Amino acid sequence: MAALYNNGLNGNPHFLVEGGRPLRGVFKVPGAKNAALPIIAGTILAPGRLTLGRVPDISDVRVMLELLNHMGAEIELDDNGILSIDTTALKSVPAPYSLVKKLNASFDITGALVARFGEAMVPMPGGCVIGTRAVDQHLMGFRLLGCDVRSEPGGFVAVKASGLVGNRIRFAKTSVGATKNVMMAACMARGRTVLENVAREPEVVDLANFLAACGASINGQGSSRIEISGVRGMSGAGVRYNIISDRLVAGTYLLAAAITRGEITATGVEPEHLKAFIRKLRKTGQDLTVGEDFIHLRGVSPILSAGAVIAEPYPAFPTDLQPPMVAYLSLAQGVSYVKEKIFDMRFNYVDDLRRMGANIEVDSNTAVVRGVERLMGAPIDAPDIRAGAALVLAALAAEGTSQVHGLHFIDRGYEKMEERLSALGASIRRVAGDADRH
Ligand code: UD1
Repeated sequence: MAALYNNGLNGNPHFLVEGGRPLRGVFKVPGAKNAALPIIAGTILAPGRLTLGRVPDISDVRVMLELLNHMGAEIELDDNGILSIDTTALKSVPAPYSLVKKLNASFDITGALVARFGEAMVPMPGGCVIGTRAVDQHLMGFRLLGCDVRSEPGGFVAVKASGLVGNRIRFAKTSVGATKNVMMAACMARGRTVLENVAREPEVVDLANFLAACGASINGQGSSRIEISGVRGMSGAGVRYNIISDRLVAGTYLLAAAITRGEITATGVEPEHLKAFIRKLRKTGQDLTVGEDFIHLRGVSPILSAGAVIAEPYPAFPTDLQPPMVAYLSLAQGVSYVKEKIFDMRFNYVDDLRRMGANIEVDSNTAVVRGVERLMGAPIDAPDIRAGAALVLAALAAEGTSQVHGLHFIDRGYEKMEERLSALGASIRRVAGDADRH
C-alpha cells in the first residue's frame, strides 16, 4: 500500500501564495472524505474482496487504510482512487495510538468491530481544535444494543457484546458520527433497530447505501429516522461502490473562485447536496449556473453581504463551509452575521484573518463580519482542515505574499491543494522549512 501522503519536502512545509489572481477553469471534485472514512470502516462488516471508486487522495484516508492494514486487511489503492480491499483476515486488535491520534474518525470503526467480532478496544477521542469531540451518543447507542462499555487504562474504551440485539434508540443530540457508528453496530444485531433523531447528511446516506450493497437491510436514510433489520451476515465479495463527491471541497473551490472574482466550473458534483450553500452564494450576488452534475460560477464584484448565515446540521448551511464563507464575506460590502451552532470553537482562524486586515468580531457563537476593501498577505497558521482552507482563500485574494503554515491539517481533507489551485491559475506552491515564519 502507498505510504502516507508524502509531499517530497522535509522540515515544516508551507504554502507560499501570491494573491490577486482570479481562478479560472474546470475543477473535478473528488470523492467525499466524510463518506470515504466511514465506508472504509464499514468494509470491516463485509469480508470478501470489494472495490471502492472515487476514494480521495488525502492523508485521513491513508491513515484509516493503515489502521485497517495493521489489523490484517488486504489493501490496494491505485492512482485513480480505486481501492480494492478485503477484510476477511482482519482481527480486532487495539489500534496503535500513533495512528489513531492522527485521525478523529478512527473512533468510527468501533461499531463495525463490535458487530463483527463482539468486541472493540479503541482510544477515547480527546478534545479537538474545533471543540469537544464528545462520544456519549455513540456509547449510549452501543449500550442500548446490548454492549458493555467500560473505560480502560490509558484512555481506551472497551466495548463488548455477546450477541447484539436490536432496539429503539433516540439520540439526544443529532450526531453524524454516532449515527454512522451505531448504524454499523446494528446491521447484524438480532431483530429490528430504530434510530431516531439521526443525522441526515448525504455522507450518512452514502454509508447506508454502501452497507445495503453488502447485504445490510436499512431504510429511511436521509430522513431523521433510520430502520435496520438485522441480517445474519454481510459480504463484500464482488461489490463495487462509488463514493459520492465531496460537497465541502466543491464549496471551498467555488468560494475560492468567488473571492478572487474568477470563473470556474466544478464538475462531478451533486448540486442537490449544496442547496443551502448555493442559496447563500446567490444572495451575495454570485452568478451561478447549476446543472445536473456541475456548478458554474462567474465571480462578480462587488460581493454583497450574506445577511445571516447559520451553520447547522444538514440540510442547513454546513459547518465545514463556515470558515471559508467567513473568509469570503470579509471582502463583501456591508455586514454579515455568521452563527455556528455545531462546534464551540470554530472561529479559531479569525485572529489570522484579522491580521490580514479583515474586520471580524466574534461574540460567543456569532461572527460579525464587516466587509473591507482589501486583505493584505501575511504569515498565517492553519489550526484545522476547514480553517486552513479559509486562510488559503484569504491568501489567494490578498494583496502581496502569504505563507500558510499547518499544511498537515489541509492535507487531511484536500487533495494536493497547491496543484489543484495552480491548475486554476493561482500562484501557490509548497515550500520547505520555516524560514519565512515571523
Ligand atoms: C462529522 C464530520 C465533520 C463535520 C461534523 C458536523 C466526519 C469524519 N466528520 O464530524 O466534518 O463538521 O460531522 O457536520 O464525518 N456530539 C455530542 N455527543 C456525541 C457526538 C457528538 O455531544 O456523542 C457533539 C459534538 O461534540 C459536536 C456535535 O455534536 O459538537 C456534532 O458532532 P458530530 O455530528 O458527531 O460530528 P462528527 O461526526 O465528529
